[in-house]
Amino acid sequence: MKKEKTGHGRASGKIILMGEHSVVYGEPAIAFPFQETYISTKVEPDTNMLVDCHYFCGELSEVPPQLKSVKEVIKQTLNVLHKEKETFKITITSTIPAERGMGSSAAAAVSIVRALFDYFDMPCTQSELLPLVNRAEKIAHGNPSGIDAAATSGNDSLFFIKGQPIESFPMNVSNAYLIVADTGIKGQTRAAVSDVAHLFEQNKQRVSQHITELGHLTKLAKQAILTDDVYLLGKIMNQAQVQLKALTVSNDQLDQLVVTARENGALGAKLTGGGRGGCMIALADSKEQAVKIATAIEAAGAKATWIQSLGVKN
Ligand code: MEV
Repeated sequence: MKKEKTGHGRASGKIILMGEHSVVYGEPAIAFPFQETYISTKVEPDTNMLVDCHYFCGELSEVPPQLKSVKEVIKQTLNVLHKEKETFKITITSTIPAERGMGSSAAAAVSIVRALFDYFDMPCTQSELLPLVNRAEKIAHGNPSGIDAAATSGNDSLFFIKGQPIESFPMNVSNAYLIVADTGIKGQTRAAVSDVAHLFEQNKQRVSQHITELGHLTKLAKQAILTDDVYLLGKIMNQAQVQLKALTVSNDQLDQLVVTARENGALGAKLTGGGRGGCMIALADSKEQAVKIATAIEAAGAKATWIQSLGVKN
């Protein structure tokens, strides 16, 4: 019996360790794919053009506004593949909490492009993938730096500078554990990025100082990672949080989880991603400490926590 044709695509979530927001202004950022969470997409034959994802099921033409970028990436990919007239069912399954700074919109786009290329037996290279994903990200986020597309589509940690070739580097810090915690509150990256832009217009000198400082701290963090200095990395993360607060992208819930993490032994703690909700990260120098911090953060209201080792030498 002939096997029915299907296409599959997958992409992981992402964590920004350092440099969110300042990366939009050309400063570097450090990020890595967060394999604990992922989105997978399946394409299968159907006589209608259907989209089925965890919070919407229906015709492509009925896709709700919050899924506009999904609709766009499907259309643009079919355009690139010269398959505009084809119909099928696309099923998107996600374990990445949406609008939490974990790259769910970019990961959705990456997995859709990969699944459509796979369905038509076409190899999908990064140079075909990234422009399609970044186009969808413009719809989702307004003015994306491209870091989410790069981090969710790769396997390596990145030292990312907008518009420059993507540089991977080894994230390998002995005995370092990152606790990722979800506030459970949706954070609108689009609004946060646009508010920082307004702030920049209102007070160029002050805001560009914060942005430059975040870039400087990111470069120091890269050195701390390369010299295997978990304590310095923690201090730098704390300094970054001060700058992010000055850019108004933290909020009470994030601040509270950051303080709780530090009170429970975190070497450093800050928000990650767009902020105004979403997730925070904290650094620990042992698995036991990481578990203690995660437990305390959950007691303080985090809706979910994950622990990720930052080293192969642990
Ligand atoms: C969002 O994950 C990271 C931001 O820096 C926006 C971007 O880089 O596109 C806030």
